[in-house]
Amino acid sequence: MFENLKAQPADKILALMQQFREDPRDSKIDLGVGVYKNAEGVTPVMRAVKAAEHKIWETQESKSYVGLAGDPAYADGMISLILGDAVARGNIAAAATPGGTGAVRQAFELIRNANPNARVFVSDPTWPNHISILKYLNIETVSYRYFDRETRGVNFDGMIEDLKGANPGDVVLLHGCCHNPTGANLNLTQWQAVVDVLNEKGLIPMVDIAYQGFGDGLEEDAQGVRLVASSVPECLIAASCSKNFGIYRERTGLLMAVAQDADGQALNQSTLSFLNRQNYSFPPDHGARIVSTILNDDALRTDWAAELEDVRLGMLALRQQLADELQNLTGSDRFGFLAQHRGMFSLLGTSADLVEKMRVDNGIYMVGDSRMNIAGLNTQTVPVLAKAIVDAGV
Ligand code: LMR
Repeated sequence: MFENLKAQPADKILALMQQFREDPRDSKIDLGVGVYKNAEGVTPVMRAVKAAEHKIWETQESKSYVGLAGDPAYADGMISLILGDAVARGNIAAAATPGGTGAVRQAFELIRNANPNARVFVSDPTWPNHISILKYLNIETVSYRYFDRETRGVNFDGMIEDLKGANPGDVVLLHGCCHNPTGANLNLTQWQAVVDVLNEKGLIPMVDIAYQGFGDGLEEDAQGVRLVASSVPECLIAASCSKNFGIYRERTGLLMAVAQDADGQALNQSTLSFLNRQNYSFPPDHGARIVSTILNDDALRTDWAAELEDVRLGMLALRQQLADELQNLTGSDRFGFLAQHRGMFSLLGTSADLVEKMRVDNGIYMVGDSRMNIAGLNTQTVPVLAKAIVDAGV
């Protein structure tokens, strides 16, 4: 039987992680996988996470099963973090999932169950695993224009034109904030225009929000998803706690389905629980419990938000330093977009050949599409990267 299996291509982001580990050069710089690193190159456990784990260790009396949708306190905390009071709680179904990827996968399965003819529109480019999972599930994928390779901003006219080509019932996958891989994001006026097209054409939005708090701030980064959820009849939201709580390996995500009324909510809730049961039964609890402990404790929540804000501001400072450094070296502001982008990533917008050249010549590891993880830099390595970019002739 096993001989019938086909060797699968390695995930490009994860393969790069391995390649970086194997590079013996001390001067190597990891701008690959989307993991936050501080100036020392360490991915720290956040203070509030440590404190919450301590509290859980002291108070938890059982490791018995919780529920198919996970702990309601976790869902409530995350719903209010992401949606605030934009949508009536009674219309929202939610289930904990193993990481944001789990939420994405469950959302796609729900779409396929609800409408086998639905196509999923994805930004060009998008997180490669979106496309990989859609393909695996045999769901037709259509890409819409998103990244303008000249300005390195959003090709908004192209995006709108392409979304207008969707059929009623098609799904539009949107990044809630901190677009991965480009770093180019919609402003609120543009979000409104997207919402208008969704409603005009009868399209169903699915928002993937994995970096809330890394862009313009916790509240600001949620403006787009709140506008969508409060303006359309139905939507799906896949959220991750991996990055903003720094609990990557705990696999902590949430899938939300917003319906028009309580009946729709009940149907969605039973579907989410059913999908969890089919795929892995009970979702992991430890990360979710850390998150709900933090969100429901004023002191921990304040400390968490403050540490996250420091992370955000640190990345913004690195962006600015890199843009300034490149301006000095080139005498032009053509890299100014690096300071405008938001979130962990920027797409440099160069060829795979030049990306490879920087890897070979300078030990700089970025994803082949030229996505850079800004958090992989520090004030000392920014000038090294800037020089490598110029030397490579980007
Ligand atoms: C990334 O885009 O690098 C992260 O979301 C990690 C992953 O799973 O790919």
